[in-house]
Amino acid sequence: RRILLVGAPVDSGKRRAGCLMGPDAYRTARLPGALADLGHDVHDLGNVTPDPVEAPDTERLFALPETIGWTQALSRAAQEALAEGAAIFLGGDHALSLGTVHGAAAHAARRGRPLFVLWLDAHSDFHTCDTTDSGNLHGTPLAYLTGRGGFPGFPDVPHPIPEAQVCIIGLRSVDGPERAALEATGIRRHDMRDIDENGIVAPLRAFLAAVEAAGGDLHVSLDVDFLDPAVAPAVGTTVPGGATVREAHLAMEILHDSGLLTSLDLVELNPMLDERGRTAQLMVDLAASAFGRRVFDRPTPRIL
Ligand code: ARG
Ligand code: MN
Ligand code: MN
Ligand code: MN
Repeated sequence: RRILLVGAPVDSGKRRAGCLMGPDAYRTARLPGALADLGHDVHDLGNVTPDPVEAPDTERLFALPETIGWTQALSRAAQEALAEGAAIFLGGDHALSLGTVHGAAAHAARRGRPLFVLWLDAHSDFHTCDTTDSGNLHGTPLAYLTGRGGFPGFPDVPHPIPEAQVCIIGLRSVDGPERAALEATGIRRHDMRDIDENGIVAPLRAFLAAVEAAGGDLHVSLDVDFLDPAVAPAVGTTVPGGATVREAHLAMEILHDSGLLTSLDLVELNPMLDERGRTAQLMVDLAASAFGRRVFDRPTPRIL
């Protein structure tokens, strides 16, 4: 498979700096080599830079103009990469998904295919510019991408992702306004209690079955804080009680078996907070699982 790597050193989505080092941490942890070892044709397109944007800088929202500039630039970069093959976006904080998913939606629309989005995250990232308390725009992409409005100065969203095509897994930190807004939607949402009680396989397979039935493309946004901080400490927004190493690998392995994955964000890695590169390495290993690394082949049906 042809895989394009796109560096997205976005650090404007929150106040604590460090995610700009993420793309190089993934390269250092040998993401390109790991994918090539699986037989893929890997091309690293290097790092994107944000468009210069003349938006009013507000007190309340952190680094608004820069994040708008990233959104524009990454939407274009995503469309260019997806025209060539599968895309992996090396973040960068989660504000990068404002652009990558915007571009993936445009690409899917051009091909006449519905885009489905799987959000693996402790957080729902469902704030608008009006509801965010922190002013950190990495807490907003899912609201923007589903067409919620409240994003002045950002590119229009001509292809909002329909609620029925979004699934969030891993939730354990949802702010009040996000909860109220989410509950008014048909977005599939699985908190950690749900995963504890029922496992990660059932909701994932149900979502993949919907993607397949619709003939859709699938974008996966993997936030480091989906994982438990004990195994993935290199993130500024740790929340205890996250996914285990095996839960995360199993999800990636099933994604690979589905044959549906067309783009992947690796977000929120802050190498300043890492311990001997272990979080970067785990994220690389998860990406490898999503693109076919396995111990043994097995005759699992693609989707159950
Ligand atoms: N809900 C919180 C906020 O708005 C945390 C968001 C964390 N988002 C993330 N992508 N890590 O600030
Ligand atoms: Mn080639
Ligand atoms: Mn997130
Ligand atoms: Mn998060």
